[in-house]
Amino acid sequence: MYHFHKERKEITIDKYNTPTPWMNYLSNGTFHTMISQAGGGVAFYRSPQIWRINHYRFFHLPMDRSGFYTYIRDGKDIWCPTNEPCRMKPEQWKASHGMGYTRYEAKRNGVEVKATYLVGSYEDALIWNLKFKSDEDKKITVYPYVELGMMEFMRELQWQCYNKHQLSAYNLEDILVYRYGVEDQPKPKETPYVYFASDAAISGFDCDRDEFIGSYRSEENPIRVEENACSNSTLFGGDPCFAFQIEVDLKAGKEKEVTIFLGTAMTEKEILDSVRNCRQEGFVSKSLRSLKEDWDSFLENFQCELPDKEAETMINIWNPYQMERNFQFSRNISYYATGTFRGVGVRDTAQDILAMIPFDLERAKNKLNLLFTQQYQDGHCNHYFFPTEGWEPVKRIHSDNHLWLVMDVYNIILEEGKLDYLFTSQPYYDGGRDTVWEHIKRSIEFTKKNLGERGFPLMLSSDWNDMLYKVCRKGKGESIWTSMQYGTVLKMMAHLSQLMGEEPSEYLRIYEEQKELVNSVAWDGQWFRRCITDDGTFIGSKDQEQAKIWLNTQSWAVISGMGDQEKQLQAMDSVKKHLNTELGIKKIHPAMKDYPSKEDPLTYYNKGCGENGSVFCHANTWAIIAECMLGRSDLAYQYYHQLLPMVVQSKAGEARYKAEPYVYASNIFGPESDKFGLANVSWLTGTAAWMYLAATQYLLGVKPKWEGLEIAPCIPEGWENVHIERVFRGCKYHITIKNSGSKAFIEHVEGRKEFSVEI
Ligand code: NOJ
Repeated sequence: MYHFHKERKEITIDKYNTPTPWMNYLSNGTFHTMISQAGGGVAFYRSPQIWRINHYRFFHLPMDRSGFYTYIRDGKDIWCPTNEPCRMKPEQWKASHGMGYTRYEAKRNGVEVKATYLVGSYEDALIWNLKFKSDEDKKITVYPYVELGMMEFMRELQWQCYNKHQLSAYNLEDILVYRYGVEDQPKPKETPYVYFASDAAISGFDCDRDEFIGSYRSEENPIRVEENACSNSTLFGGDPCFAFQIEVDLKAGKEKEVTIFLGTAMTEKEILDSVRNCRQEGFVSKSLRSLKEDWDSFLENFQCELPDKEAETMINIWNPYQMERNFQFSRNISYYATGTFRGVGVRDTAQDILAMIPFDLERAKNKLNLLFTQQYQDGHCNHYFFPTEGWEPVKRIHSDNHLWLVMDVYNIILEEGKLDYLFTSQPYYDGGRDTVWEHIKRSIEFTKKNLGERGFPLMLSSDWNDMLYKVCRKGKGESIWTSMQYGTVLKMMAHLSQLMGEEPSEYLRIYEEQKELVNSVAWDGQWFRRCITDDGTFIGSKDQEQAKIWLNTQSWAVISGMGDQEKQLQAMDSVKKHLNTELGIKKIHPAMKDYPSKEDPLTYYNKGCGENGSVFCHANTWAIIAECMLGRSDLAYQYYHQLLPMVVQSKAGEARYKAEPYVYASNIFGPESDKFGLANVSWLTGTAAWMYLAATQYLLGVKPKWEGLEIAPCIPEGWENVHIERVFRGCKYHITIKNSGSKAFIEHVEGRKEFSVEI
């Protein structure tokens, strides 16, 4: 059904009807397209909330409509190289997702089509390159088509009956243009025109969707294609689309190429300029080449050769690729997330930044600077915000958001080996500005001033676990996990203080104070409890009937170093005993029902789903890190390997798992669900960043330290000759690990370009 290509960095899928759409993201940072193996998907300019280009019908049947289709009319045959949405199918077909492009190769009745979709760096456009070849001389007609919608998806749902009459789509010198100009739209001056152009002559077009599709029809059988003639419709009010009719005269064995551009520009003049540029000789190959070069140089920062080829595929290619897409899109738009309300989450984005740091310090710093704009002078942060749309942020105060910023800063300093970033000045959300160093000191101050009755940080509107807001609505609930996160960053602050020539003792004192609480009040006998409710009940305790044990406080007792040595081991043994399954580690056990009370349950999730006892992949990453820190390499590797997407997909079964085997999902239904093994919310999840860190910095153990690069692998027995290349502070390190069980530390020397080490 699929296979990976190492050299081309591609996955090829040879069955169009995968259990869910298997997506790819094409993007140049401004123009973005999510596209499936069957050509369905959605394009948007900068924001899917306000500048969405085409329709994608979330959660509808048939799934994965509409998309970026080309109908081929060959005599009576009508088919699509994307396979969907025509009923008539190609005789041969495959789709390949690569780094920033997707290609479809199809053949029917002697006509071969290779359709490559990409978004390159030279124009803000989805390039849709079609190469045709035929066994015999043949005239075919092709109809590229995309269904447009209102750019504001939410307004469309609510106000379409009026606002749709404010839309226009028309022909400008054989370029189709769509103008979204509706009353009270956000940022009208920044709203682009959308265009549709071809580098081949067109013999017809349509801008009115209903004219092109016909009544009681769908993308499956447009009337215009059936009748083999577009109607040259314009649209001044109604439901818009872009469609071309293009005649292609094929000579036996000779290739013919047609390219379509679905792009954006700010004025009609810019449209004409942009299309002129797109139509230049060699534009498509130049765009593809630079895309490949950019990805090759990005991925070169860390490459490895491992005995486990599935892990190698993920670490070298797909995990960093997914991580980069997360970094760009946060949790905004995917097959699962509609891109309608979530902007940039401080918690989520701060974690995404952690994995961008080894690849691109500038991008990481710029994003972190953006997060600092959401911090208040007292140290806390807004929960999520909308820098592109300009809407009011969501101002809930959570106990963890501001602490993630400390972790980002610390890791930037270690990667860079310089303190300069600490001195840069960043604004506060409520006015004034200060250095990064002062910002993160205020993060600590905020938590220090917001402790509960028992001395743990107040939960506030939740910690990392969203649903825990229920236990703290009276403002008294406390988070034991946040105490561990606090402890982790207190140690980072102590180290930074030393580097800054300041006194670290206060940070260390608070660390010890919290540690004491963790080992006394939070210890339950065999594991650490999770949190304390407003009324003083401990959640995550053997005394409770449900949700007795939670994963995060076990792994973070190790990560923070706060659990006593013996307790760390016992806690992680309890994880193995109560939470591990053959498809990954559950977040809680047992799943809840009507807990803590029927009237006000912690969650309405069904047992085994999402927050209620699923295998929460994001949280699994911390268990892997914890096992590495304990030096239990076989267990760490078992936890890592069992969750590799292609491994867990094949164990659960393709039809059960459903999601992509090349990117991580947020969670997988747990054993208390009748659909154990069903993966959810793939692509946009914190799993991508943390799994990458778990694999590279803990299992393979290549970790930046202030003085240089530490190599402390925690790889399984029997692994030999692991080769790693890692770019660090401008020097490429060639590392060979012979599994001698030893560690190495390479002091960094400024100006060194290459370095080899064998351990
Ligand atoms: C998904 C949310 O995006 C993230 O912020 C949260 O930490 C996890 N769910 C766990 O609740």
